[in-house]
This record gives sequence, structure tokens and C-alpha cells, in this order.
Amino acid sequence: MVEFKDVLASRQTVFAYKQALSPHFVPETLPYRELELRRMMEAIAPVLEGQKAKNLFLYGKTGTGKSSCTRYVIQKLDAEQKPSVKALYMNCRVYDSRYKVLQKVIHHFHPDFAKTGYSFAVLYEKLLDWVEEEARQLVVALDEIDMVKDLDNLVYTLTRANDDLRSGSISLIGVSNKVDFKHRLDARSRSSLCEEELVFQPYNAEQLTGILKKRGAQAFKEGVLKESAVNLAAAIAASENGDARYALLLLLRAGELCDEKKKADVLDVDVEASRKAAEEEKAFEVIGTLPEHQQLLLYGLATLASDVTYKRLVEEDGDKLYFSGEVYERYAATVKKLGKKPRTSRWYREYLKELDNLGLINTVQSGKGVRGHTTLIRLSYEPERVKQVIEQKVLGE
Ligand SMILES: Nc1ncnc2c1ncn2[C@@H]1O[C@H](COP(=O)(O)OP(=O)(O)O)[C@@H](O)[C@H]1O
Ligand SMILES: [Mg+2]
Repeated sequence: MVEFKDVLASRQTVFAYKQALSPHFVPETLPYRELELRRMMEAIAPVLEGQKAKNLFLYGKTGTGKSSCTRYVIQKLDAEQKPSVKALYMNCRVYDSRYKVLQKVIHHFHPDFAKTGYSFAVLYEKLLDWVEEEARQLVVALDEIDMVKDLDNLVYTLTRANDDLRSGSISLIGVSNKVDFKHRLDARSRSSLCEEELVFQPYNAEQLTGILKKRGAQAFKEGVLKESAVNLAAAIAASENGDARYALLLLLRAGELCDEKKKADVLDVDVEASRKAAEEEKAFEVIGTLPEHQQLLLYGLATLASDVTYKRLVEEDGDKLYFSGEVYERYAATVKKLGKKPRTSRWYREYLKELDNLGLINTVQSGKGVRGHTTLIRLSYEPERVKQVIEQKVLGE
């Protein structure tokens, strides 16, 4: 008979513990962030001696380790097991107003307090009572704090609460991916929130290599992940803002591609393929948001390019380029088939420009000889896939 354990055992995979590459995984150590962690812990440490922490504000581009460091510090604080010290991490994508943040804090520490129906004033009083009750030192980490709608109110309320407290304290760790965010705060909230400020710099290729090696060693079976793959993923991510999340995603996808193809090793070619897939995904999202006639133009080009019997094209370095006039005819035919009217060729040229700017196509002017001067068009992505995407998204097939 078939048993699950046999099915699992016979399944071929390069992964040992795939979760180690997930964005939700909190690694045990965070290399290259010792200095940042130390500064954060210095700001927070007073709570362990019964004093208020300094408010702390972290910012930097996505994937620079801000959320991970924040979680790490909160975990370490909890691990001290000091009964009067209470810490909570939350993401403001979910808790995006002063009311929701307050409600979350109270509900987290006071699960039997009913969830809804209280006015802000009641919640606020409740919070102060709870802090004073045992002279608690509360640290609230607000990740992606820029998502909070009434941000100035929130910061003002939570920082000024300390003036109303007879004992205990409330301190904030604010985190933002938006580098210019600080200037959106009014002066008063800014100076209270940014008592201590820390910028997270993008990782360079060498640091990303170190991070990927470590995470890769946990995620993949021994010997499977080759150095060439790690180096390429690190180099690509370093050139894209030093984003560790993207670097990890590239490795994860590369591994998944290997599993699909039943390959035993993860190499640089797999990382390259995974980058292509990631880019394609982004491009296809863009296609979905284009104005209708640009989508139909692209569709016309894709049908032309996927027609293997079609011979009126120019080949250049293995790429196929199509004559602008022919593409227009296909576009017009597609539009008419839908019972609509094609746009004029003046509009058509505008559309070409826009699609070129978005990187979905590439236009070049032909030299003399090929029917005088004419525009040639190359489709940036695989025609069959482009057709599929437009058929699904636009034509609803
Ligand atoms: N120093 C590091 N060591 C190991 N993994 C890291 C490190 N910095 C970031 N990461 C990983 O990169 C991803 C993005 O980090 P994150 O903390 O979410 O960045 P941010 O909050 O700045 O966007 C996460 O999967 C995280 O585990
Ligand atoms: Mg983050």
C-alpha cells in the first residue's frame, strides 16, 4: 500500500529546510548588523533597570534588516523575563490607525478585555491604568509606521502618555522603509519619536554573500547550493538596492526550479532563470495595468511573434524584430475583431514609446537598405506567455 512517508521519501528535492528562506523566518544571528543591534539595545536597556527607554527611529531601504533586527531585540528583551518589562512588535500595515494600535496593545496584554466598542478615551485610560498598576515599562515596536493614517496623533499620544503616568513608562521603536518619511511628521512628533535615530545602509555584495551562505546552509541539503549560485544572487541583489529579501527570494526560486526540473544542484544558471522569472512576473503585473489599446497592441505583436510561419521579420543576434507597419496591422485586426475602432497611427507611435519606456518592447530604427527608414520592434518577453497573460487579464478567456 501507499504510505505518506514513502511518497515524501521518494520526492526529489534540493531543500532540507525550505522555510529558512521564507521572509517570515527570523534567523538566529544577524551578521553585519552587530553595531545596529548594539545601538538599539543601548536605547532600550534602561527598561531593565526600571527606567524609560529612549524612543528609537529606524529607517532605510527595504531588505536591509530593519524588521529582523527589531524582532530580534524584542525577543531578547522578552528573554530577560523581567515581569515589569513588556514588549510588543506589530506591523502597521495591519494596525494602521492610533485606535487600532492602542487596541492591539491592550488586547495583547489583556486578552479578556473585549475587543470592540470602546471609545479612544476609554482605551487610553485603560492603557495608563495597566502601565501604572505594576509600574510597567512598555516598549512598542511599530514596523512600517508610515502606514498609520493619523500618525502624528499616534506618536503624540504615546509619547505624551508619559506625562500622564504616575509610574512606569511607554517607549516606541518606529521603523520605516521610506527614507524621506521623517519629514512627513510634524516637528513635535518628530522630535519625540527620533530621540535616537538609526539608518540601515544597503548590504553590499560581499555581505549578501555571507548572508546567503548562512541561510542557504540551513535551507538546502548539503553540497547542493553551489558557490556560483550564491555569488550571482548576491551580485544581482547588490545591484538592486542591496535588498537581502530579494537575494533570498532568488535562491528560493532557483531551488524550486531545480525541483521542478529534477535537478540535483543549484547553479548560477538556475539563479539567472529565477531572476528572469521574477522580472517576468513584475512585467506581467505591469501589462495588467496598461490602458486597453496598449494591451491590444502588445497582443498583436505577440500573435505575430508566436506565428512561426510568419517570415517578414529581421533577425539580429538571434532576436526577432518586426516591422512597425506589420505590427500596426495586427493591432488593428485584433481591435476590429473585438468590434472596436483602432487608434490612428499617431497614437500608435505614442503607445510604442510608452511600451518601450516600460521595457515591454524595444524599438530600433532600421538602417538604410531595409525598406528605407522604418521602426523595428522586438518583444521583450516570450510571446506565448505575453499572449496568455493578456488573454487572461484583458480578454477574460
Ligand atoms: N543580517 C542578516 N542576516 C540574515 N538574514 C537577513 C539579514 N538582514 C536581513 N535578512 C533577511 O532578509 C530579509 C529582509 O529583511 P527585513 O528585516 O525584513 O528587512 P527590512 O525590514 O529592512 O525590509 C528577511 O528574510 C531577513 O531574514
Ligand atoms: Mg521590514
